Amino acid sequence: MPGFELWGDDERREVQEVLETGVLMRFGFEPARKGRWKAKELEAELCRRLGARHAQVVSSGTAALTTALAALGVGAGDEVVMPTFTFVASFEAVLSVGAVPVLADVDDSLTLSPAAARAAIGPRTRVVMPVHMCGAMADLGALESLCRENGMVLLEDACQAIGATWHGRALGTVGKAGCFSFDYVKTVTCGEGGAVITDDPEVARRCDQFADHGHDHLGADRGADLHPVLGYNFRISELHAAVGLAQVRRLPTFLEIQRRHHAALVEALSGVPGVTFRRIPDPAGDSCTFVSFLLPEEEKARAAAKAMQAAGIPAMYWYDNNWHYLRRWDHLKDAASLSRLPEGTERVLRGLRERSFPASDAVMARVISTPVGLAWTGAQLAERAAKLAAAVRGA
Ligand SMILES: Cc1ncc(COP(=O)(O)O)c(C=O)c1O
Repeated sequence: MPGFELWGDDERREVQEVLETGVLMRFGFEPARKGRWKAKELEAELCRRLGARHAQVVSSGTAALTTALAALGVGAGDEVVMPTFTFVASFEAVLSVGAVPVLADVDDSLTLSPAAARAAIGPRTRVVMPVHMCGAMADLGALESLCRENGMVLLEDACQAIGATWHGRALGTVGKAGCFSFDYVKTVTCGEGGAVITDDPEVARRCDQFADHGHDHLGADRGADLHPVLGYNFRISELHAAVGLAQVRRLPTFLEIQRRHHAALVEALSGVPGVTFRRIPDPAGDSCTFVSFLLPEEEKARAAAKAMQAAGIPAMYWYDNNWHYLRRWDHLKDAASLSRLPEGTERVLRGLRERSFPASDAVMARVISTPVGLAWTGAQLAERAAKLAAAVRGA
């Protein structure tokens, strides 16, 4: 799944170009940098490949979400509707701008249910934030309509889904803004990194400022920049951007391999009684980083996950996972913040202890994902497919 599996000469060459100049920062130092601007090049490459007008590369996917939310003007007291199945970073970003995460059920697409999102909307809701989990998309048509009808902003957390599309449009370009992660286990990696993409020049300008202490980047040099707004340091280094540049150019190759390997695993599992697959609103647009399948009930899913692990096949049983599913987010439910949270936020978080999400549980207790590797040989793929099917069939 992650680009690091195919780390090679392209990545080394791009990093070497930065090391030759010694200019590791993305801004300034023009005389020394010999025309090398890896972060800027990565932004241009992302725009070109994803069909976005603007890209802001930052230090992580979490920073990208935080930057996007700030650039959209989301702050104290605003509510962001988001799914119960995501990575903790999605709610961390919402909390970090002073807003309140409002959780809503996922459906059999493993992403935000449009019906649940509609029911979660209240007078303070500003943003609906679907998370395109495990490489494939939420039902963007329904969510886009929901936002349009209610005057809300659609922000896509596409951190796990670079290269996936929805009816031909890259994920991240359907909403007002979209965010990606380039951490070490993503399809495209920088080591650590992330990006916001948007077609809105004002949102792009605010992202550029917010991610660099509010600098307007208009001065003759960095010291002469003005600071029209408050910002923070979410900059990416040139070294990280150089890796990402090489990786993003290889995205079509990564996707082609993922799709081929994914198809072989799906075919092997298709003949196993009781197995159904995650619903994908536009199957042709899946980036195929994982195969996610459901068993008829929880006990069967637990047994299958155990059998897969015994056979040496990674099985992500998300229901028990303490990073990705709300069931184990005790620190969120306890509002366990090092510093005092706004009163309203704390109340909403503690209130999660009293809430249940049976519709999410009904899906999440039955689903298993297994990652799709990039570096497998034909023989390894065939062996993986056979072992996977045998483990699930025998469970
Ligand atoms: C859905 C989702 N959102 C946000 C992030 C945060 O990305 P990063 O690890 O680059 O901060 C991740 C990372 O795993 C993720 O999976």
